[in-house]
Amino acid sequence: MTPIYQTSTYVQEGVGNHKGYAYSRTANPTRHALEESIAALENGEYGACFGSGLAAIDCLIKILNPGDEVITSADLYGGTYRIFTTIFAKYGIKFHFINVDEVQDIEKIINSNTKLVWLETPTNPMMNIVDIALIAQITKKAKIWLAVDNTFATPYLQTPLDLGADIIMHSVTKYLGGHSDVVMGALVTSNENIAKEIYRIQNSSGAVPGPMDCFLVLRGIKTLHLRMQRHCENGEKVAKWLKDHPKVDKTYWPGFESHPNHGIAKKQMRGFGGMIAFSLKGNNLKEAHDIMAKFKVFSLAESLGGVESLICHPVTMTHGAIPKSERDKAGIVDSLIRLSVGVEDIEDLIHDLKQALA
Ligand SMILES: Cc1ncc(COP(=O)(O)O)c(C=O)c1O
Repeated sequence: MTPIYQTSTYVQEGVGNHKGYAYSRTANPTRHALEESIAALENGEYGACFGSGLAAIDCLIKILNPGDEVITSADLYGGTYRIFTTIFAKYGIKFHFINVDEVQDIEKIINSNTKLVWLETPTNPMMNIVDIALIAQITKKAKIWLAVDNTFATPYLQTPLDLGADIIMHSVTKYLGGHSDVVMGALVTSNENIAKEIYRIQNSSGAVPGPMDCFLVLRGIKTLHLRMQRHCENGEKVAKWLKDHPKVDKTYWPGFESHPNHGIAKKQMRGFGGMIAFSLKGNNLKEAHDIMAKFKVFSLAESLGGVESLICHPVTMTHGAIPKSERDKAGIVDSLIRLSVGVEDIEDLIHDLKQALA
């Protein structure tokens, strides 16, 4: 097993002659093993791990300069929206938020300052799917970078570098870690120039994870395929059960043939995952809160992607940082409930949903 190199520094052979590792902010063998593992999973050349998913995003956007522009969608994890609008906008980087169904029209917004297109697919929490290969054609033609947040799909279901993306970002906290016991982020690329910048900023800004956490994620990754298979199986059964429930208005899951992007999902993903969102008929906030309080197997908590099923209310929890006007644009309504379907026995999960919605 990869040892946990619980050390900040390394004894050197002589002045100017270290054995490959000098100081653990710059590099640590346990972290290095994990960075190589995540890069390999994504079919990428270079991997870098960070203290959180947001620290990974922070590193990537720091490659840009004041005056540069980024195109992204409004249907985005709330923390990503917050770092874009309240941190980097302050340093002169401009963000264009477009509706997810207009992403194919980005050519109209690209100008000489545009440097990056940032995509989340499937999106959090609306489970929209964006055609990565189509957007990659546009970004390649315009000679700008395409970054994909692959947190929801994981490399088990989707490998965006193979579809033409330049950079992958992960909240490793979620499925890669898989056990809700680590906060971590990662970036992967096969572009040497981008990688050099990532490692320069990783070392200069210093948002690196510790070796114990890297060990836990290395262990988590060993069962990624088993967990994802079960997340997909349970996700499908839960989504189908919810769809027919009389209290449920809309169920968002890309595996439904009626999902507006089902065709793209089938083309670019190897399964549809265990993330589901649903809204209630009447769209009543209090009713959503009351129903959520009744769950016994699904735990009420932020985050996703662990073996345990979680339930969350995006408007008051994960997406509170997004203004209501932007939330409404993306369809994040008051009664929307998000499920991270875990790997438990499906009968227990369905029973829990049944009693909570009764
Ligand atoms: C899709 C997505 N991207 C990024 C993040 C941020 O990652 P972290 O919480 O590890 O900083 C999250 C966290 O929920 C997420 O769901």
